[in-house]
Amino acid sequence: MKETVEVLISEQGIAKRIDEIAERVSKDFEGKTISLICVLKGGVMFMVDLAKKLKQTVEFDFLDISSYGNSTESSGIIKIDKDLENPITGKHVLLVEDIIDSGRTLAHLHRHLWAQGPAELKICTLLDKPDRRVDHSITPDYVGFVIPDEFVVGYGLDYAQRYRNLSYIGILRFNEE
Ligand code: IMP
Ligand code: MG
Repeated sequence: MKETVEVLISEQGIAKRIDEIAERVSKDFEGKTISLICVLKGGVMFMVDLAKKLKQTVEFDFLDISSYGNSTESSGIIKIDKDLENPITGKHVLLVEDIIDSGRTLAHLHRHLWAQGPAELKICTLLDKPDRRVDHSITPDYVGFVIPDEFVVGYGLDYAQRYRNLSYIGILRFNEE
């Protein structure tokens, strides 16, 4: 089987959308310090590029999680492998995700963060696959792109830890050789 990647969203397309999202986030959090929380590792590229476009003071923190279940379907029961370094109690938090698929990971993460008593907790995802949603309890506040039910890689997103460094987002296809 040969893997190929078909471009879905170009580097320029991502950059343009990030400008638009950053403008909205900067307005919504005006006068506040934003605690940006990145979910490792997929959200890294998106968070740093978004942060560069925000007009106010931002702080970075990172969460690393693993989800039980097989590789294509998450169970939503997540294990926190690396928790936040700084408490978010009373803070204005923006959780930055790479993609929302079934919605289970996000629902669990939201409960985990909300329990710490932030003043505000908003969700920003680069990609959204609404056709695959199972858990509808959390709706993202900012969505980069709504995409079809395809497995995508690049710009942080991986397949078996590969492809994260692509500057664009593409659909991963497996072809017979
Ligand atoms: P959920 O709990 O099903 O919403 O899982 C979301 C997580 O699954 C994301 O944070 C990704 O790590 C992973 N994921 C879901 N769809 C894709 C995809 O198309 N490409 C790469 N990773 C994906
Ligand atoms: Mg993720």
